[in-house]
Amino acid sequence: MLLNKIKLNNRIEPRRILMCSPEHFDIIDVKNPYMQVQAGKIDRITATKQWEKLKSVYLKWVDEGYLDEVLVINGEVGCEDMVFCANQSFPFIGKNGRKNVILSKMKHASRQKEVPFFKKFYLSQHYNCIELMHSNSFEGMGDIIPHPGKDLYYGGFGHRSDANAYEEITKITGTPVVTLELINENFYHLDTCFVPLSEDAVMLCKDAFNAEGLIQIQQYFSKIYFVDAKEAIDTFCLNAHVINYTENHKKLAVLQKGSIQAIEALKAENYEIEEIETGEFMQSGGSVFCMKMMIY
Ligand code: ARG
Repeated sequence: MLLNKIKLNNRIEPRRILMCSPEHFDIIDVKNPYMQVQAGKIDRITATKQWEKLKSVYLKWVDEGYLDEVLVINGEVGCEDMVFCANQSFPFIGKNGRKNVILSKMKHASRQKEVPFFKKFYLSQHYNCIELMHSNSFEGMGDIIPHPGKDLYYGGFGHRSDANAYEEITKITGTPVVTLELINENFYHLDTCFVPLSEDAVMLCKDAFNAEGLIQIQQYFSKIYFVDAKEAIDTFCLNAHVINYTENHKKLAVLQKGSIQAIEALKAENYEIEEIETGEFMQSGGSVFCMKMMIY
């Protein structure tokens, strides 16, 4: 049953950034199509420079008062994908106002090792840590994306997360989840193909979704900016990180350089745009959105 957006409660947006340092970032096994021929090809010096640049954009936004703080968790030996810290967890504010986090159930064994390090971090930040009991697979904010400003989530499933995880998450959070099947392996996480830009607008690649999913999305967004699959795959532009709930309504976006359609959409929605280079991380199938976690 579809819900009317107008009746949804408002969402409290997080204002802090968590990143994971890239000293152990590598490509070992193939987990997505971008990793196919890349094993052993990471230039860690370049990767570190790219990661530092993203961090400096966030620090600038802290200086300008749009964010509160940037925190860094150290990468661990043997956790080559840990730098993609959007995936191991899903923080939310409970209906009682308490900080909660749902810990992910990573699909790949090599990534399951990452989760306890994030649990330890969240405990140090006084979060209530929640384990999923009835779901096999859920990859955190790689696959669950909030509706801007509203108490509603979109949940991608089919590659890394199971559809039934969202039933459990709705029970835990008290927030409805619109589930969207991801049908194209190039868009294996929802954060590779779907970027809400405002309460009314979203930018997406339609090749990632089935007809039912696209109809669902139209129920919640009156304006859809389409980015074609070539641009989305070549530039990871739909892995942009956008911040649109600043106090003075400033809209901020940071994304990989080189996209045309996504930049047009962001400009049309009045975003201030930072274009950066994340090429080393794209070889592993991730870019900006994957390299940070918004936390409370
Ligand atoms: N190599 C990582 C994996 O396949 C990339 C994760 C990218 N993260 C994201 N949120 N899309 O798991």
